[in-house]
Amino acid sequence: MSIIINDFEKMNITKIKKAKNNKKLTVITAYDALFAKLFEEIADMILVGDSLNMSFAGRPDTLSATLDQMIYHTNAVCSGAKKAFVILDMPFGTYINKDEALKNSVKVYQETNAAAIKIEGGEDRAEIIKHLTSNSIAVMGHIGLMPQYVRSEGGYKVRGKTQEDEEQLIRDAIAVEEAGAFAIVVEGVMSNVAKRITKAVNIPIIGIGAGNVTDGQVLVWSDMLGLFEDFKPKFVRHYMQGASMVKEAVNQYRNDVQNSSFPSKEEEY
Ligand code: KIV
Repeated sequence: MSIIINDFEKMNITKIKKAKNNKKLTVITAYDALFAKLFEEIADMILVGDSLNMSFAGRPDTLSATLDQMIYHTNAVCSGAKKAFVILDMPFGTYINKDEALKNSVKVYQETNAAAIKIEGGEDRAEIIKHLTSNSIAVMGHIGLMPQYVRSEGGYKVRGKTQEDEEQLIRDAIAVEEAGAFAIVVEGVMSNVAKRITKAVNIPIIGIGAGNVTDGQVLVWSDMLGLFEDFKPKFVRHYMQGASMVKEAVNQYRNDVQNSSFPSKEEEY
């Protein structure tokens, strides 16, 4: 198998914006140095998603992630993937108003090498995004199904099923673009609506659960490697049966320990 190394030397927001209509962008999450190093030369961007609160911390949703937790993981990712364009996902409650958002984003820039931050919200958060971008913070938007709204929305709901919601999503995308975001994640949206959103703005739309009509895709690394077994959302493709591979390997290790074939003569001092 050949690995196609990312043709961009080091990503920046100008190159990301130029990719629209030229090249599909591949985005993957990472939470640690080990995996970030494996992904760095393949993916265009690495997102330190607050999804880590679920898959790594075992919590039921993303809402209890803290800024310090995100900073810790972002530093690990940046150490492992020094050349990558790394985005820190601002956790719930850290951008409730313009001042808090700016204070916390400045803290991110001061304490990590993240190139950008991501915040959830459309028209409702446009003013906050504008305040950040006009103070030199690079912002990736996130509209559609927004996991940080799970409790206020009463669950994770696919968006764009009604005409009214479709129009709202278009307004959200335009508002986030006008506020100065360099790209937008569109999650859990009907693919015909994701297509309209992608055409409605001039910045890249990165889809997840939004069909193949967007300017790029993002997946949570542990989902796409098949490591997360609890459930498989419809939009996830398993590129590896990670969970069974890991369990088989650890089982083999246990067998080798029990029958004393590990360590061998070659593996001892
Ligand atoms: O937290 C996360 O990993 C995300 C992606 C699913 C886009 O926001």
